[in-house]
Amino acid sequence: MRGKTINKKILLGVCGGIAAYKAAELVRLLRKHGAEVRVVMTESAQHFVTPLTFQALSGQQVYTTLIENDQEQSMSHIHLARWADQLIIAPATANMIAKMAQGLADDLLSTLYLVAECPTFIAPAMNQAMWRKPVVQENIARLKLHGVEIIGPEAGQQACGEVGLGRLSEPDQICRRLLGNDAPKKLQNVQLLITAGPTREPIDPVRFITNRSSGKMGYALASAAAKAGAHVTLVSGPVNLTAPVGVSLVSVETAQQMYEAVMTYVDKADIYIGAAAVADYRPVTVNTHKLKKNDDNLTIPLQKNIDIITEISIRPDKPFVVGFAAETDNLESYARQKLIQKNLDMIAANWVGKPEGGFDCEKNALQVYWLEGQQHFKMTDKSELAEQFLDLIALRFRAER
Ligand code: PMT
Repeated sequence: MRGKTINKKILLGVCGGIAAYKAAELVRLLRKHGAEVRVVMTESAQHFVTPLTFQALSGQQVYTTLIENDQEQSMSHIHLARWADQLIIAPATANMIAKMAQGLADDLLSTLYLVAECPTFIAPAMNQAMWRKPVVQENIARLKLHGVEIIGPEAGQQACGEVGLGRLSEPDQICRRLLGNDAPKKLQNVQLLITAGPTREPIDPVRFITNRSSGKMGYALASAAAKAGAHVTLVSGPVNLTAPVGVSLVSVETAQQMYEAVMTYVDKADIYIGAAAVADYRPVTVNTHKLKKNDDNLTIPLQKNIDIITEISIRPDKPFVVGFAAETDNLESYARQKLIQKNLDMIAANWVGKPEGGFDCEKNALQVYWLEGQQHFKMTDKSELAEQFLDLIALRFRAER
């Protein structure tokens, strides 16, 4: 890291842990590289290091409570969150990670996280057994899905005497990650349009046809693309997820609405990714009243929905088109057929209907095919997988253009 960065405004949240002392060194390094730093401390952090230390190192008032006594002198939590170009929480304890993952806002730092719209990083530090606990890993996976970047933790000797993964990353390493963000990214300024989640095809006012897609794969890709510098528009069916940081969300319900939304944004798209599980059929008529349970059998006539991705890939000015294939058998041959039939640039095939991977779970594996090649990604966390797959998309996109 050479020279000074131009006035980057960094909001540092410090939680209570033995590694809190390393946050003081982080402030010193960030300032040395030209960043402006403001520090927020949780109550327990103040048992490890005093606010005075951070005040002296940052040259700024240190924030410790949601309501400051001197409102004139202090920034409100809203202004503080808006002021920041980046939010970094270091060390981030298991407790703070859990609060962030659940959207709890019971102190200044957790409230700031909810208000902040800037890129957010956490550098976890905790006992190795704590870090390995499934609930902590689930919370981390959830934060990744919401666009939070995780720095570390590192392996080694811990303050408690145990050895394992859980040490706070070195301040120099954290500093590099924060300030190194200025380097041009692999999808810098690329316009990326992506679909995610299921569609719902109404039968009557209370019933619909849908599928098991949770949207997690598509949201993870949207988040990874935004981090890679792309301008991301995410057209999403009904899911239980919040839009990743920096992503424009367009919410839809039916396949027809998804088609219309996609057509609104496709003109300026450089890359289109169809990760949504779009219903292939919809009821011919939508009953205006709830269907009554009269007969032993009920037949609902269905008609084909428009194939959104094909509509895009037949355009003369088509973007780089990446499709998905969700299959219960013949994964490779069905995926290759779709690659050709739908005129795609790439297709990512995944198994569905198996105990692990595919629909509505944290992990997935992908077999990616294009005309001249293929690459397989093994079963891993969807946010990790999304980053790996996006690297390949960026590579193929650059090769094609
Ligand atoms: O959402 P998750 O729970 O995380 O699960 C992820 C996933 C399994 C849904 C995802 O990885 C995935 O495979 N998405 C595509 C599912 C699908 O609809 O596959 P398909 O083989 O039926 O469709 C092939 C391609 O055509 C897809 O890119 C699909 O978006 C597109 N399509 C399909 C029908 C239609 N009417 N319009 C389309 O654009």
